[in-house]
Amino acid sequence: MSEIKHDQHRIAQMGEYPFARLAQLLKGISPNPDLQMIDAGAGEPRLSLPSFVQPTLAQHLSGFSKYPSTAGNDFLRESIANWLKRRFGLKHVDAQTQVLSANGTREALFAAAHALVNPNAKQPPFIMMPNPMYQIYLGAAITAGGEPYLQPCISDNGFSPDIDHITPDIWDNTALIYVCSPSNPTGWVADYAYYKKLLKLAEKHDFYVLADECYSEIYYQNKPIGLLEVAQGMGNTTYKRCLVMNSLSKRSALPGLRSGLIAGDADLIAQFAKFRSYSGPATPLPLQHIAAAAWDDEAHVQEHLQIYRQSLDAFFDVYGGQVPAGSFFVWLPVENEEAFVREKYEHQAVKLLPGSYLGAAGKQGFNAGSGYVRAALVDGPEKAAELARRLKA
Ligand SMILES: Cc1ncc(COP(=O)(O)O)c(C=O)c1O
Repeated sequence: MSEIKHDQHRIAQMGEYPFARLAQLLKGISPNPDLQMIDAGAGEPRLSLPSFVQPTLAQHLSGFSKYPSTAGNDFLRESIANWLKRRFGLKHVDAQTQVLSANGTREALFAAAHALVNPNAKQPPFIMMPNPMYQIYLGAAITAGGEPYLQPCISDNGFSPDIDHITPDIWDNTALIYVCSPSNPTGWVADYAYYKKLLKLAEKHDFYVLADECYSEIYYQNKPIGLLEVAQGMGNTTYKRCLVMNSLSKRSALPGLRSGLIAGDADLIAQFAKFRSYSGPATPLPLQHIAAAAWDDEAHVQEHLQIYRQSLDAFFDVYGGQVPAGSFFVWLPVENEEAFVREKYEHQAVKLLPGSYLGAAGKQGFNAGSGYVRAALVDGPEKAAELARRLKA
């Protein structure tokens, strides 16, 4: 989205989705026929299917003849709770009251603003988010009747969404903040101090923190810390005001499964569960069984992680520059991102995403995605190296 037009109908304010804009940008251009296409535009993992998927599906096919629970059936919520405990060292996660299944986190990230933010407040509350951002946050904030507040993430501050220069009156009118760690598209990762500061602000000014941690299992060196882990470390053992989301799309390279998790504060989970009992984003039972098997298994995650690390090494060995701390995205500064994307598509048969399509120019100023392109390293190390060569060409 390039600019939010505050006086328009909510749907019109959302603008076209980035991939629709990309298709428009590349319309009529023929990619170089001498080269095999490298599609680094979408963040879609393209690794092999984990070995447990097929047998689990075969074993549970009859589940298609039953309605699944929208909240997630008990066995899946147990697997999720156990994974959260193992991964983040959490002492207490109650599968019944602190966990929900999501039909992919995209829908859950979008629905969360609708379920948790009161649009009837005297003044539309701020819904804060990084800029550039996963565009769902912005669409959610607008359609939920909030006022998007964009935190510019720029290279000078390591792409960290600024929380140090926001005035108390803004915080007082904030209902919800989206944090994306590791970040799509910049690769920034929140550390303990960042989450701690944010949680203190949330307590003082009474707003909710929603951490989108979908890329938590894809990192270069250090395992990213989680919001719930920090809350627990601060003595907030019920995760008050906190929600986290995570996804099997990235962790297990199963984007077609459409399965993720929602966890945190039992009051927020109850409110969200009520909302979802009407909107109904249930995951079919056989797919819930695959999801449970995926949360229970770490071997495939480790295998994937090695491939992502090798891909990052392969890319940066050729291209130079700093490897991002998390995610499989590279965020590259270029002069004119739309011209660059067109040029690389035509001459190098490479698909990239213009950074400005992932940002927005709101009341807080400029589109912080401008001047960048995003490339997803989702095809393994050889293609990552080839991609780097073509981008340098
Ligand atoms: C930052 C971020 N959050 C959430 C998602 C949604 O993933 P899914 O709906 O597949 O769980 C994506 C997908 O690209 C993403 O990049």
